[in-house]
Amino acid sequence: MILNLLLLGPDPALLGTPPMSESPFSLLPAASTNAQEIDDVYIFITALCVISFVILMGAQIYFMLKYKKPKAGHRKTSPLTHSGKLEFWWSFIPAILLLILFGWGETLYMKMMSPPDDAISIRVTGQKWFWTVEYPDTAGAILTDELIVPVGIPVRLTLTSNDVIHSFFIPVFRLKKDAVPGRYTNMWFEATTPGVYPIFCAEYCGDQHSSMIGKVHVVPREEYQAKLDEAARLVQDEGESMVDFGKRVWDRGGCASCHSLDGTTKTGPSLKGKYGTNETLVDGSTIAIDDNYIRESILEPNAKVVQGFTPQMPSFAGRFDDKAIAGLIEFIKSNK
Ligand code: CUA
Repeated sequence: MILNLLLLGPDPALLGTPPMSESPFSLLPAASTNAQEIDDVYIFITALCVISFVILMGAQIYFMLKYKKPKAGHRKTSPLTHSGKLEFWWSFIPAILLLILFGWGETLYMKMMSPPDDAISIRVTGQKWFWTVEYPDTAGAILTDELIVPVGIPVRLTLTSNDVIHSFFIPVFRLKKDAVPGRYTNMWFEATTPGVYPIFCAEYCGDQHSSMIGKVHVVPREEYQAKLDEAARLVQDEGESMVDFGKRVWDRGGCASCHSLDGTTKTGPSLKGKYGTNETLVDGSTIAIDDNYIRESILEPNAKVVQGFTPQMPSFAGRFDDKAIAGLIEFIKSNK
């Protein structure tokens, strides 16, 4: 903290959302308990490097000038010997500093690796090219690209992947861990500052890797459950049209990460003006884009793949009920 103030100006954590400071010397804001400590170690290492650099380079320049070859005549180098005292101190002091670094780093690492017993459990799954977040403590709460967490309560994430290796990276928490198919990895944090911060994928996982971006919402403790219930709610509101409801299902499903609505081709076909047209499939046959085909493509996406595309879409069976699928169909239909 104090080091931070001396070297970098105001505490970046105070800057809140948006998460970047204007100063080129500023670190990212730190929004978790461990993040501030990680920054302190980082600043300590940087300060050590700067001080050592100045001492070493300073001594080198000083001796270069002091012992440079005289212009006229030449003096013989005096016989060299060594100084035991000097050698002891220049080994002993760095050794102590390195031990401090090791001790500090190791304690912090152990702390980062061991989630507290009272941590809330959240599951995160990576797939090309979005994150799904499941809350085992709140029935049915599955979100796409949105992680909602309370302030001041430890949260333990269990990561995995459905396809290739992704890397779940939350810069403001200074956390990054691979999401590996067929395996579970864990990380934990305790958020300190409410706000909305970015989540990135930090492992190249295919051509849409750079758009695999999510958000973490850090909310006050009292609001957490309500926010979660609100976000998990995927039922048609009274007075809400099927199309508007379908739009919410579309957003929740992360459909836009592969299907455009403006005609551009992404990982999957664009859905602009598709309803009611015919499409050629990979096996050469044609099919009419109607309610049944859309429904099948949501539940069993790889049964009838459109020509020119590869079977990449995950099934939404179990995530979207009939009502939600009906809404989606109406939304796609409305996209003329
Ligand atoms: Cu997922 Cu890169």
